[in-house]
Amino acid sequence: MQRIGIIGLGGIGNRHADCYVPMQGAELAAVCDIDRERADAAAARLGVPAFYTVQDMLSDADLTMVSVATGGVEYGSDHYEPTMQALEAGLHVLGEKPICNEIAPAEEMVALAAEKKLCYGINLNHRFTPAARLAKKWMDDGRIGHLLFMNMSMWIMNPRESSEWFQIKALHPHTVDIMRHFCGDITEVHCIAMKAPGRAIWSTAQFNMRFACGAVGHLTGSYDIERGHPMERCEVAGTAGRFVIDDMFREATLYPAGDPEKVVYTNPVFGGMRDFADTFINRLTRFVQQVNDGVSPGDIDGSGADGLAAQKVLAAAIESIRTGKAVTVS
Ligand SMILES: NC(=O)c1ccc[n+]([C@@H]2O[C@H](COP(=O)([O-])OP(=O)(O)OC[C@H]3O[C@@H](n4cnc5c(N)ncnc54)[C@H](O)[C@@H]3O)[C@@H](O)[C@H]2O)c1
Repeated sequence: MQRIGIIGLGGIGNRHADCYVPMQGAELAAVCDIDRERADAAAARLGVPAFYTVQDMLSDADLTMVSVATGGVEYGSDHYEPTMQALEAGLHVLGEKPICNEIAPAEEMVALAAEKKLCYGINLNHRFTPAARLAKKWMDDGRIGHLLFMNMSMWIMNPRESSEWFQIKALHPHTVDIMRHFCGDITEVHCIAMKAPGRAIWSTAQFNMRFACGAVGHLTGSYDIERGHPMERCEVAGTAGRFVIDDMFREATLYPAGDPEKVVYTNPVFGGMRDFADTFINRLTRFVQQVNDGVSPGDIDGSGADGLAAQKVLAAAIESIRTGKAVTVS
């Protein structure tokens, strides 16, 4: 059983809370925000004590785990401090994406979790769907064969412009994680980007990538398209077959090479995923289950190390935009 505190009670921290309240093996025990109104509102809504500093919550609430749902510059600068405090206090941490907006602090966060032998996960929620699980099984069963290429794309509207790299750093932890999830480490990136009309940031981008396994990858993403239609597409191809996941969980289709019969998984009406919020439930439930099961920190799905690896790919992409050249991922 995990006694959980939530740090950062914006829309996303409140969503984490709503996931933990009914979850088996979890007990929501406290909320913390430096914004007293936000902390008090969440505490009243959820029936748990409010704290206004992380230190006070860690001292008084008798927790085993925290969710870090702070934001900050590029949606990530405020993750470092509370994550380090919680790890220092011996708590497991499930943090929001991006792991951090800069690489050096992210490396410290991952290193401290490893040193303390604590579970550290990132809310890389897009991979926690039945469709993604099935696609992974198709790969494990040899139905894709030797990997050849991957095409990934995701587009939403986000009008915020906290820095010119906001779209790259804040949207693409998701897409790059999905690419790494299916095809492994990315070693080289070439990225070009554009500023949509009225925008001051690189709000739409296209990446070419090389995977360590030898396969090639392509990614397109945008913060310029209003919601209403599908927002994500994932395609992986190999010598034995190709799959496409439409919109994260709606449909997964396997196209076996040389066989005109395709296999289609459609999200079921009964017992299927209802909407995007369910990706949070699935991801947070998986983390709590893994911690409760005593899984080794190195085996956490969507770990801090995964979050860091994605951010290193994005740092290389930014350098590529700056230099106009392909960049090796450090
Ligand atoms: N996984 C997803 O699909 C997904 C989707 C959207 C947003 N996000 C992520 O969720 C995070 C939060 O987003 P949001 O829109 O709720 O942000 P927000 O800025 O509205 O809320 C963050 C809250 O954290 C509080 N905070 C900051 N530092 C703190 C500290 N040291 N101690 C206590 N409280 C502190 C702030 O006062 C604020 O209330 C971002 O990192 C964002 O990238 C994830």
